[in-house]
Amino acid sequence: MSYTKELETAISVAREAGAVIREAFTNRGKAATVDYKKENAADLVTVTDRAVEALVFSKLRAVFPDHKFIGEETVSATEDAKTQLTDAPTWVVDPVDGTTNFVHGFPFVAVAIGFVIEKVPVVGVVYNPILDELFHASAGQGAFLNNQPLPLMPPTPLPSLATALVATEYGSDRQDAILGPKFRALQKVVADPVRGVRSLGSAALNMCYVARGALDAYWEAGVHLWDVAAATIVVREAGGAVVNWKKPESSGTDVTKEVYDGLAREVVCVRATKNGVEEIAGIISTIREYLEAV
Ligand code: IPD
Repeated sequence: MSYTKELETAISVAREAGAVIREAFTNRGKAATVDYKKENAADLVTVTDRAVEALVFSKLRAVFPDHKFIGEETVSATEDAKTQLTDAPTWVVDPVDGTTNFVHGFPFVAVAIGFVIEKVPVVGVVYNPILDELFHASAGQGAFLNNQPLPLMPPTPLPSLATALVATEYGSDRQDAILGPKFRALQKVVADPVRGVRSLGSAALNMCYVARGALDAYWEAGVHLWDVAAATIVVREAGGAVVNWKKPESSGTDVTKEVYDGLAREVVCVRATKNGVEEIAGIISTIREYLEAV
């Protein structure tokens, strides 16, 4: 099954949404109109998030009136996307992934548009309009950055984290009970050591940079479906793996076949490597050990 119409529509809508984001990003006055989602200063939503989500939904609905829609800004704080995602064809949208970056003028900001069938992402478009980087992928058709196949360079080996540049995020919930384990895990990874740790401030872009091969791995606890749906298919089509960090009982040995539908709140992803699935599995299992030990 190919998803040409869905992919082409998603790319065109992402570019339109990107123009709105770019204009607001340039005009810091508009960008700085901020609300706080959890009444803390770290979880932000702007007028642009809401306007872009409305735009994306209306453009997609005009072409696909029978599909379902889940968006970051229309799912209320109390209602989880988990309860809304069915097997039906569903568009999953994060209008501005990297809202804090957007507000601060840090140029890692993206609109993420995923199309999910039977809870599996089959089309993904992640567009950073500030750097004009458009990542796209569809099932079985490969992943691309500005139409160049991903990863951009032939994959190198990744025998261990010692040669890895990794990314993680610590999220907006700053309670000790949430933050403590994340930092303890990070300390172990850094001390082991990895070569470096980055936080781009956008889950979708962290994942797309794994697909690109610029990051070797990324993990985060606390992601939402809309943060990861589009980028999941980009990473997989680039030859990488995306899994839940708690290993499902039935996953077997091939991590690239593990079921990850974006409903789990914790994600681990690893880039394509020269030595293939076994090497990816080794890195994922190392990361899981660090995360589970805290
Ligand atoms: C957030 C960003 C952030 C990640 C959070 C996401 P938002 O999305 O992707 O990097 O750490 O988990 O919720 O709020 O900017 O759309």
